[in-house]
Amino acid sequence: HARRPIIIANWKLNGGIDLMCSSVASFIRKHYEAEIVVCPPYIYIRDMLNFLQHSEIRIGSQNVSKFESGAYTGETSAQMLKEAGCKFCLIGHSERRAMFRENNASCQIKVERALAHNLTPVLCIGENQEERENQITKDVLTRQLTEGLEGIDLTDKNICIAYEPVWAIGTGKAASPEIAQEVHQFIRHELAALYGEECAQGIRLLYGGSVNKTNAKQLLTQEDIDGLLVGGASLDPEHFLDICQQAT
Ligand code: G3H
Repeated sequence: HARRPIIIANWKLNGGIDLMCSSVASFIRKHYEAEIVVCPPYIYIRDMLNFLQHSEIRIGSQNVSKFESGAYTGETSAQMLKEAGCKFCLIGHSERRAMFRENNASCQIKVERALAHNLTPVLCIGENQEERENQITKDVLTRQLTEGLEGIDLTDKNICIAYEPVWAIGTGKAASPEIAQEVHQFIRHELAALYGEECAQGIRLLYGGSVNKTNAKQLLTQEDIDGLLVGGASLDPEHFLDICQQAT
């Protein structure tokens, strides 16, 4: 397929000046076949962009406000992120859903905001352990997609969907390539139902959940897995670089 692979680092609330500097040093003068995105905490976005301005690395945010501007203490808008130089923004990560009351409705607003400012949203979806055991994985994903994308026009827009089964995040238990592929195929099928086959074929689907340099290649060779969203393993720049270079 013609979809360019994409590898995204999500630092979460980790790292500091040291990680920023060592990452910049590792990433800067390399050529990548895949598109590489780093999502550091907001406070490092500008510095990283300055350091990496002559590199191929792109910067994304881990979240975005659902508000444009106003009296919303602590928020950062899509417009500000765009102005700062971000190209991507994660939306609805499972940690935000679990701990910060993010839901499909708030994700829908955020996807709209991101698209309006030409940021590529990376909408994160995925079932938890209990939902998988109860065999309602597909229902959960369908709902996350239909509600998270409700009324959103994707004509001439870029969006990515990240499938992150909650049971695989930070547990060391990645989904097997077969299970991940099965789910990704289902997600593409659902996107085709919403937007048509051609649009669905153009949307990049990422897998996230305990990705490391050992399991990355096998996941990436699956037909419907176009990229990876890497948490823990992205906190070691050399480890993350290894993953990036496996994406061809
Ligand atoms: O956004 C990244 C995911 O939550 C995966 O995290 O690679 O540490 O399991 P992890």
